[in-house]
Amino acid sequence: MKFETILFSCENHIAKITINRPDKLNALNATVIKELSEVFDFLSKDENTRVVIITGAGPKAFVAGADISEINRLDTISGKSFAELGQEVFNKIEKLSKPVIAMVNGFALGGGSELAWACHIRFSSGNAKFGQPEINLGIIPGYGGTQRLPRLLNQGYGYYYILTGENIDADMALKLGLVQGVFSPEELEPAVMKVATAIASKPADIVSFAMKAVHASGDFGLKEGLAYEASLFGLCCGTDNFKEGTSAFLEKRKPEFNK
Ligand code: COA
Repeated sequence: MKFETILFSCENHIAKITINRPDKLNALNATVIKELSEVFDFLSKDENTRVVIITGAGPKAFVAGADISEINRLDTISGKSFAELGQEVFNKIEKLSKPVIAMVNGFALGGGSELAWACHIRFSSGNAKFGQPEINLGIIPGYGGTQRLPRLLNQGYGYYYILTGENIDADMALKLGLVQGVFSPEELEPAVMKVATAIASKPADIVSFAMKAVHASGDFGLKEGLAYEASLFGLCCGTDNFKEGTSAFLEKRKPEFNK
């Protein structure tokens, strides 16, 4: 697939999306948002892809935010549409039934942090800096930051970072549980690939059920979430991979999953 602002490749069932505007620290302009929407529409249907990695081009930034030169022109009406469009795309990422791993290789500010919060798993380099600095521009986060960050943290930290605009360095992000691992810039991609490869080796239909079940934990109350989990568990029990996985255990052999 060919795009103007993103690079896309897929090897061994692992898709890699690179936001490719390094001269602007991969800031999210309207074209990036449109192309992300298109690539995630494609990925939602593509049976070959099992895991998605998203990162930024160059050594300095994952994404340094929404493009401020575009934000600067917004008014009350267009500002609302701008936020809704970005939210729609990030919702597509969050609701994908394939895991999306954010590989955060530097600045992830504003919309860059919001993009990472919409992913399912986050790994970063030691020089990564997260944060919601929008308050310093006279706006608030508009691509989901006010909703997802407080859900990932406790609410006090959510208020704190959104109101101060303070950066969150990689060590703090790890301490707060915002990232699942921190690596040197050289070690980041191999570490992410190792996790992606491990997940891609699992039975794809069961990964998809697991993803849908965990998605529900963000959308439903406990009672509805448990009911949904039970239904998905039932669906797992109707699959060939369930028969193979449980039989292989009982027969003391390695499972041969039908991927
Ligand atoms: N929107 C548009 N352009 C951006 C951008 C953004 N969010 N972030 C960086 N850029 C551009 C800069 O304008 C600069 O472009 P230029 O070379 O044409 O002048 C280029 O990317 C490099 O950025 P620069 O600021 O020179 O790099 P730096 O190393 O001095 O600082 C940051 C890096 C990330 C601290 C700084 O770029 C920054 O604060 N960016 C904005 C972060 C932000 O507020 N994001 C939230 C937006 S809602």
